Amino acid sequence: MTQRTATLTVDGNTSEYPVMSGTHGNDVIDIRSLGGKTGMFTYDSGFLSTSSCQSRITFIDGDKGELLYRGYPIEQLAENCNFLEVTYLLKNGELPNAAQKSDFENTIKNHTMVHEQLVKFFQGFRRDAHPMAVMVGVVGALSAFYHDAMDTSDAEHRSISFNRIVAKIPTIVAMAYKYSMGQPFMYPRNDLDYTANFMHMMFGTPCEEYKPNPVLVRALDVIFTLHADHEQNASTSTVRLAGSSGANPFACIAAGIACLWGPSHGGANEACLTMLEEIGDVSRVGEYIKRAKDKNDSFKLMGFGHRVYKNFDPRAKLMGKVCAEVLGELGLENDRLFKLAKELEKIALEDDYFVQKKLYPNVDFYSGIVQRALGIPTSMFTCIFALARTVGWMTQWEEMVTDPEYKIGRPRQLYIGAARRDVPPITKR
Ligand code: ACO
Repeated sequence: MTQRTATLTVDGNTSEYPVMSGTHGNDVIDIRSLGGKTGMFTYDSGFLSTSSCQSRITFIDGDKGELLYRGYPIEQLAENCNFLEVTYLLKNGELPNAAQKSDFENTIKNHTMVHEQLVKFFQGFRRDAHPMAVMVGVVGALSAFYHDAMDTSDAEHRSISFNRIVAKIPTIVAMAYKYSMGQPFMYPRNDLDYTANFMHMMFGTPCEEYKPNPVLVRALDVIFTLHADHEQNASTSTVRLAGSSGANPFACIAAGIACLWGPSHGGANEACLTMLEEIGDVSRVGEYIKRAKDKNDSFKLMGFGHRVYKNFDPRAKLMGKVCAEVLGELGLENDRLFKLAKELEKIALEDDYFVQKKLYPNVDFYSGIVQRALGIPTSMFTCIFALARTVGWMTQWEEMVTDPEYKIGRPRQLYIGAARRDVPPITKR
């Protein structure tokens, strides 16, 4: 087949650029030679039209509302696999067989404890610090504890780092929570699976044995799966950019956590619940919808809208289902905020403004309500997201480091500041 090309004409000069096709999705124009051929750069603030890499990990079709991990639809993975199987899939490209699954579970279990010295590190934080602030610090600090396997050019080292961080992140999230509560840290339990163990470390105390409820464990496990990866979103791109300089993986994940914290990204579930609390009652939904539509009001409906999904967010659909299951299990079907969320969703989905701008509930719309029902405090919501997304971040980091086209990330700019000028003597300033 002849190579398709895109032709660009600037000031009468024409240059050609190859068009590349992937397995699914939009074709891309390879403009790597643009600077050399034209002396120009492209301008794409917010990366609305830019592919930053080739990737084999996750595919999203925003118009169809489709999300695939390594080719498998998210609905099938959420239904048939647990989070550690999905983690194995993301890491290795294929689902594990029974022996691989058991091996992987054992490996992760063997890494769940953190260095005792790290426990002291927590004591440096104020008790009322936001847990995400603690997470940024503690995860970054892992590089000071596990430098025996930090040669990023060594596949074995990278694999050990992957396993370590995936195993330790639930322990660290639970420690951040326990620290904020003034309760003792709980050591991991190897008789429990990944998610049940996390719930034990979050909600257990040394005073009595914690018995995880299998329905709630499964719900949280699905939440982890839904958040595990989402191709080149802001935090993942942050991890890749940080890692492109050769920085160690723990530092890169800390950078990802920092980015995820923002309310336009992972902080939206926390912001969504705060918004629902503020609305307070179904009778005030109209008022808030009006505010969301007002150009002069900065208020947005949190949990609505997505850069990529313009029909529906498949994760939101699954999350809605999980939400109903959890509330049913806990007898909270008449939960005030859940009812309010349902009403808000209904009104927004019928409203012209939201229909025309294709603003649908995203994954964060229901995840806050489920997490609240599970007993997770609002300030911890984004930490839960970070826990799950660590798998995606590490997978993307690994892919970048092993990409033969791997280069340090270095965007260019359109400079619009002061033109070159000379510093005047102080008497003339
Ligand atoms: N409420 C009201 N209006 C909205 C909303 C919203 N939630 N989201 C977008 N709009 C409007 C914008 O004002 C804009 O209007 P305009 O065209 O008149 O200027 C239009 O819809 C397009 O929105 P953008 O912000 O330009 O879309 P973008 O793709 O850049 O942003 C984003 C997507 C950041 C998610 C945005 O929809 C938003 O802020 N939503 C609320 C926060 C949220 O839920 N974030 C979670 C995202 S999912 C995740 O990170 C897991």
